[in-house]
Amino acid sequence: MRTKIILILLLGTVLAACGGGAKPKVLIAYYSQSGNTLAVAEQIQAKFGGDLFEIELAAPYPADERETIEIVGRQREDNILPELSGTVENLNDYDIVFIGTPIWFGTASLPVRVFVEAHDFAGKTVVPFYTCGGGDAGTYVADITPALEGATILEAFGNNRAEREAGTHTAKVAEYLERLTF
Ligand SMILES: Cc1cc2nc3c(=O)[nH]c(=O)nc-3n(C[C@H](O)[C@H](O)[C@H](O)COP(=O)(O)O)c2cc1C
Repeated sequence: MRTKIILILLLGTVLAACGGGAKPKVLIAYYSQSGNTLAVAEQIQAKFGGDLFEIELAAPYPADERETIEIVGRQREDNILPELSGTVENLNDYDIVFIGTPIWFGTASLPVRVFVEAHDFAGKTVVPFYTCGGGDAGTYVADITPALEGATILEAFGNNRAEREAGTHTAKVAEYLERLTF
Protein backbone atom coordinates (compact mmCIF):
# COMPACT_ATOMS: atom_id res chain seq x y z
CA MET A 1 0.00 0.00 0.00
CA ARG A 2 2.80 2.40 0.99
CA THR A 3 4.63 1.62 -2.27
CA LYS A 4 1.43 2.33 -4.20
CA ILE A 5 1.02 5.71 -2.52
CA ILE A 6 4.66 6.62 -3.26
CA LEU A 7 4.18 5.61 -6.90
CA ILE A 8 1.01 7.69 -7.26
CA LEU A 9 2.75 10.71 -5.70
CA LEU A 10 5.71 10.28 -8.03
CA LEU A 11 3.42 10.04 -11.03
CA GLY A 12 1.80 13.32 -10.01
CA THR A 13 5.28 14.83 -10.10
CA VAL A 14 5.88 13.34 -13.56
CA LEU A 15 2.68 14.81 -14.94
CA ALA A 16 3.43 18.21 -13.41
CA ALA A 17 7.00 18.10 -14.78
CA CYS A 18 5.68 17.34 -18.23
CA GLY A 19 3.50 20.42 -18.34
CA GLY A 20 0.26 18.56 -17.56
CA GLY A 21 -0.79 18.11 -21.16
CA ALA A 22 2.12 17.75 -23.57
CA LYS A 23 2.79 14.07 -24.27
CA PRO A 24 6.17 13.19 -22.72
CA LYS A 25 8.76 11.60 -24.98
CA VAL A 26 9.70 8.08 -23.94
CA LEU A 27 12.99 6.23 -24.40
CA ILE A 28 13.32 2.56 -23.52
CA ALA A 29 17.01 1.70 -23.13
CA TYR A 30 17.83 -1.91 -22.36
CA TYR A 31 20.59 -4.49 -22.38
CA SER A 32 19.57 -8.07 -23.06
CA GLN A 33 21.79 -11.06 -23.61
CA SER A 34 19.21 -13.80 -24.03
CA GLY A 35 15.97 -11.95 -24.79
CA ASN A 36 14.15 -11.74 -21.44
CA THR A 37 14.79 -8.03 -20.84
CA LEU A 38 14.15 -7.30 -24.52
CA ALA A 39 10.67 -8.86 -24.13
CA VAL A 40 9.85 -6.44 -21.29
CA ALA A 41 11.23 -3.52 -23.32
CA GLU A 42 8.92 -4.47 -26.19
CA GLN A 43 5.95 -4.75 -23.82
CA ILE A 44 6.68 -1.21 -22.59
CA GLN A 45 6.92 0.08 -26.15
CA ALA A 46 3.65 -1.62 -27.10
CA LYS A 47 1.93 0.29 -24.29
CA PHE A 48 3.61 3.71 -24.40
CA GLY A 49 5.23 3.92 -27.84
CA GLY A 50 8.57 5.67 -27.62
CA ASP A 51 11.95 4.67 -28.95
CA LEU A 52 13.89 1.51 -28.15
CA PHE A 53 17.64 1.79 -27.63
CA GLU A 54 19.62 -1.43 -27.33
CA ILE A 55 22.68 -1.02 -25.12
CA GLU A 56 25.42 -2.90 -26.96
CA LEU A 57 29.06 -3.62 -26.29
CA ALA A 58 32.03 -2.96 -28.55
CA ALA A 59 33.10 -6.54 -27.75
CA PRO A 60 29.94 -8.55 -26.90
CA TYR A 61 29.97 -11.30 -24.27
CA PRO A 62 29.67 -14.87 -25.57
CA ALA A 63 26.12 -16.17 -26.03
CA ASP A 64 26.78 -18.92 -23.46
CA GLU A 65 25.54 -17.88 -20.00
CA ARG A 66 28.16 -19.86 -18.07
CA GLU A 67 31.03 -18.37 -20.03
CA THR A 68 29.59 -14.90 -19.51
CA ILE A 69 29.30 -15.50 -15.77
CA GLU A 70 33.01 -16.45 -15.65
CA ILE A 71 34.10 -13.42 -17.68
CA VAL A 72 31.90 -10.98 -15.74
CA GLY A 73 33.07 -12.49 -12.43
CA ARG A 74 36.68 -11.76 -13.40
CA GLN A 75 35.82 -8.24 -14.64
CA ARG A 76 34.09 -7.48 -11.35
CA GLU A 77 37.10 -8.70 -9.35
CA ASP A 78 39.50 -6.64 -11.47
CA ASN A 79 37.20 -3.58 -11.67
CA ILE A 80 37.11 -3.77 -15.47
CA LEU A 81 34.15 -2.16 -17.21
CA PRO A 82 33.19 -3.12 -20.78
CA GLU A 83 33.08 -0.51 -23.54
CA LEU A 84 29.75 0.39 -25.17
CA SER A 85 29.46 0.44 -28.95
CA GLY A 86 27.34 3.59 -28.81
CA THR A 87 25.48 6.07 -26.62
CA VAL A 88 22.18 8.00 -26.91
CA GLU A 89 23.20 11.22 -28.65
CA ASN A 90 19.82 12.93 -28.26
CA LEU A 91 18.96 12.08 -24.65
CA ASN A 92 17.82 15.70 -24.21
CA ASP A 93 14.82 14.92 -26.43
CA TYR A 94 13.34 12.54 -23.84
CA ASP A 95 11.34 13.14 -20.65
CA ILE A 96 10.89 9.54 -19.47
CA VAL A 97 13.67 6.98 -19.71
CA PHE A 98 12.97 3.32 -18.94
CA ILE A 99 16.25 1.52 -18.20
CA GLY A 100 16.23 -2.27 -18.38
CA THR A 101 18.83 -4.78 -17.31
CA PRO A 102 19.25 -8.45 -16.58
CA ILE A 103 20.32 -8.83 -12.95
CA TRP A 104 23.94 -9.93 -12.78
CA PHE A 105 25.53 -10.84 -9.47
CA GLY A 106 22.58 -9.28 -7.64
CA THR A 107 22.81 -5.90 -9.36
CA ALA A 108 22.75 -4.12 -12.74
CA SER A 109 24.58 -5.82 -15.59
CA LEU A 110 27.92 -4.17 -16.35
CA PRO A 111 26.71 -2.77 -19.72
CA VAL A 112 23.83 -0.98 -17.96
CA ARG A 113 26.12 0.32 -15.26
CA VAL A 114 28.39 1.78 -17.95
CA PHE A 115 25.33 3.15 -19.80
CA VAL A 116 23.98 5.08 -16.80
CA GLU A 117 27.43 6.46 -16.01
CA ALA A 118 27.84 7.64 -19.63
CA HIS A 119 24.72 9.85 -19.67
CA ASP A 120 23.26 12.75 -17.73
CA PHE A 121 19.74 12.02 -16.48
CA ALA A 122 19.16 15.27 -14.55
CA GLY A 123 15.57 16.47 -14.93
CA LYS A 124 14.32 13.16 -16.35
CA THR A 125 12.03 10.54 -14.92
CA VAL A 126 13.80 7.19 -14.86
CA VAL A 127 11.84 3.94 -14.62
CA PRO A 128 14.16 1.00 -13.88
CA PHE A 129 13.15 -2.48 -14.99
CA TYR A 130 14.88 -5.85 -14.88
CA THR A 131 14.65 -9.55 -15.42
CA CYS A 132 16.47 -12.15 -13.34
CA GLY A 133 16.87 -15.85 -12.68
CA GLY A 134 16.15 -17.24 -9.25
CA GLY A 135 16.90 -14.02 -7.41
CA ASP A 136 15.36 -10.56 -7.42
CA ALA A 137 16.36 -6.99 -8.32
CA GLY A 138 18.94 -7.05 -5.53
CA THR A 139 20.79 -3.75 -5.25
CA TYR A 140 20.16 -2.71 -8.88
CA VAL A 141 18.34 0.55 -8.15
CA ALA A 142 20.48 1.53 -5.15
CA ASP A 143 23.62 0.93 -7.20
CA ILE A 144 22.61 3.06 -10.21
CA THR A 145 21.05 5.86 -8.13
CA PRO A 146 24.31 7.87 -7.64
CA ALA A 147 24.76 8.04 -11.44
CA LEU A 148 21.20 9.35 -11.86
CA GLU A 149 21.71 12.58 -9.97
CA GLY A 150 18.87 15.05 -10.49
CA ALA A 151 16.49 12.44 -11.92
CA THR A 152 13.17 11.31 -10.43
CA ILE A 153 13.45 7.53 -10.03
CA LEU A 154 10.28 5.46 -9.98
CA GLU A 155 9.82 2.05 -8.38
CA ALA A 156 11.56 -0.74 -10.31
CA PHE A 157 9.59 -3.58 -11.91
CA GLY A 158 10.39 -6.81 -13.71
CA ASN A 159 10.11 -10.56 -13.60
CA ASN A 160 12.05 -13.65 -12.58
CA ARG A 161 12.47 -17.13 -14.01
CA ALA A 162 9.71 -18.69 -11.88
CA GLU A 163 7.23 -16.10 -13.14
CA ARG A 164 8.31 -16.65 -16.74
CA GLU A 165 7.96 -20.41 -16.32
CA ALA A 166 4.54 -20.03 -14.72
CA GLY A 167 3.49 -17.68 -17.53
CA THR A 168 2.56 -14.88 -15.11
CA HIS A 169 5.39 -12.53 -16.13
CA THR A 170 3.55 -10.55 -18.81
CA ALA A 171 0.51 -9.89 -16.62
CA LYS A 172 2.79 -8.81 -13.76
CA VAL A 173 4.54 -6.24 -15.94
CA ALA A 174 1.22 -5.12 -17.46
CA GLU A 175 -0.18 -4.52 -13.99
CA TYR A 176 2.74 -2.20 -13.18
CA LEU A 177 2.53 -0.38 -16.52
CA GLU A 178 -1.20 0.15 -15.99
CA ARG A 179 -0.36 2.29 -12.95
CA LEU A 180 1.83 4.64 -15.01
CA THR A 181 -0.36 7.40 -16.37
CA PHE A 182 1.80 9.35 -18.78
C1 LIG B 1 26.71 -12.88 -15.75
C2 LIG B 1 25.36 -13.28 -15.24
C3 LIG B 1 25.05 -13.12 -13.89
C4 LIG B 1 23.76 -13.42 -13.42
N1 LIG B 1 23.48 -13.19 -12.10
C5 LIG B 1 22.21 -13.36 -11.65
C6 LIG B 1 21.87 -13.04 -10.31
O1 LIG B 1 22.69 -12.58 -9.51
N2 LIG B 1 20.59 -13.25 -9.90
C7 LIG B 1 19.63 -13.74 -10.74
O2 LIG B 1 18.48 -13.90 -10.34
N3 LIG B 1 19.92 -14.05 -12.04
C8 LIG B 1 21.18 -13.86 -12.52
N4 LIG B 1 21.49 -14.13 -13.82
C9 LIG B 1 20.40 -14.58 -14.72
C10 LIG B 1 19.83 -13.41 -15.55
O3 LIG B 1 19.56 -12.27 -14.74
C11 LIG B 1 18.50 -13.79 -16.21
O4 LIG B 1 18.65 -14.93 -16.97
C12 LIG B 1 17.96 -12.65 -17.06
O5 LIG B 1 16.58 -12.81 -17.24
C13 LIG B 1 18.66 -12.58 -18.42
O6 LIG B 1 18.11 -11.50 -19.13
P1 LIG B 1 18.35 -11.34 -20.69
O7 LIG B 1 17.69 -12.52 -21.37
O8 LIG B 1 17.66 -10.06 -21.04
O9 LIG B 1 19.81 -11.29 -20.93
C14 LIG B 1 22.77 -13.91 -14.32
C15 LIG B 1 23.11 -14.11 -15.67
C16 LIG B 1 24.37 -13.80 -16.13
C17 LIG B 1 24.71 -14.00 -17.59
